[in-house]
Amino acid sequence: MERVQDSGISTDTYDRRTEYMIQTGNPVFEEENERLASPEIIAQDGDLEVSLRPKTLNDYIGQDQVKQNLAVYIEAARRRSEPLDHVLLYGPPGLGKTTLSGIIAHELGVNLRITSGPAIEKPGDLAALLTNLGRGDVLFVDEIHRLSRAVEEILYPALEDRALDIMIGKGPSARSIRVDLQPFTLVGATTRAGQLSAPLRDRFGIVQRLELYTPEQLCDIIRRSAMLLDIPCETDGAMELARRSRGTPRIANRLLRRVRDFADVLGTGVIDAKTTREALERLEIDELGLDKLDHRLLDMMIRGYHGGPVGLETLASAIGEEAVTLEDVCEPYLMQLGMLARTPRGRVATQLAYQHLGYPLEAGTAGQQYSLTDMLGG
Ligand code: ADE
Repeated sequence: MERVQDSGISTDTYDRRTEYMIQTGNPVFEEENERLASPEIIAQDGDLEVSLRPKTLNDYIGQDQVKQNLAVYIEAARRRSEPLDHVLLYGPPGLGKTTLSGIIAHELGVNLRITSGPAIEKPGDLAALLTNLGRGDVLFVDEIHRLSRAVEEILYPALEDRALDIMIGKGPSARSIRVDLQPFTLVGATTRAGQLSAPLRDRFGIVQRLELYTPEQLCDIIRRSAMLLDIPCETDGAMELARRSRGTPRIANRLLRRVRDFADVLGTGVIDAKTTREALERLEIDELGLDKLDHRLLDMMIRGYHGGPVGLETLASAIGEEAVTLEDVCEPYLMQLGMLARTPRGRVATQLAYQHLGYPLEAGTAGQQYSLTDMLGG
């Protein structure tokens, strides 16, 4: 199928390493697995994210409903001098789940311990963490859906009765002793709430979903970060960057630094709309924030499967990616844009996807039924 217009993404792969760019004025080739538009943490992020994290609910931009609810629950817990109920935060990666757990601890005036599901290998690892918590402390467990069954089992009494049941000995003489814990708050985070076992999910009193940010909210986040990092940034530059950051602060903050490199080396040192457009074109991120992987996905759906419906696993193997990457990383944003729909029969590319990639609409394809107004319920 012929493309009607060029979508602005070339087939070459670029990296963001500034050293090379400074010397040659050209980008270098990209390392595998380092997607600039990935919402997961990548090596080049370093401790950037930590330095930019807001510490109070007031400084936290966006997620208004979550913030308002948490403010009430935190205040109530403080007034009663009780630990906050256990909190489950879920939603796509890069939206600020760890940041929120830090804010919760800060607002409660307690310590924060950070760990993750895969890092807690044995029940003893969790016991060590829990017995070291002080009164009211917050334990943050990222990727909580990846806790092993054995670890989950000892977590239940800890959450419910603030106690650990530890088995001593083996065989007929084995017995369990109960160790009391300090009252504490578990903040669990997951990108896949559906994978949490029902007993674990039921033990969270507060469950909040984080949503992708609007470009306006991301623009505010970028301007705040630029101020903290001392980067000259005009509002239209921040807005241009915001529109290409796929609703994700982690991506916005990462791209901010990359665009600054381009502004310093090739521009006036100020991040404005023109520099941002040029830089992101070189970084192969299009005007809506789609990168090569998104383009490959949509391209395969349209050219390989007439726009769908096509199963996720089929698509994943067709483009040589893992299904979870497509599901967690590409799809939430493509769905927010209204370019992809999940239907009972599989994934469908919508009219908008055809238009964005510059393909003529095919008569009789499933995607024709999915215009943006349908998807927004209009
Ligand atoms: N940096 C990253 N996420 C943020 C947010 N939601 N508000 C303010 N700064 C941020």
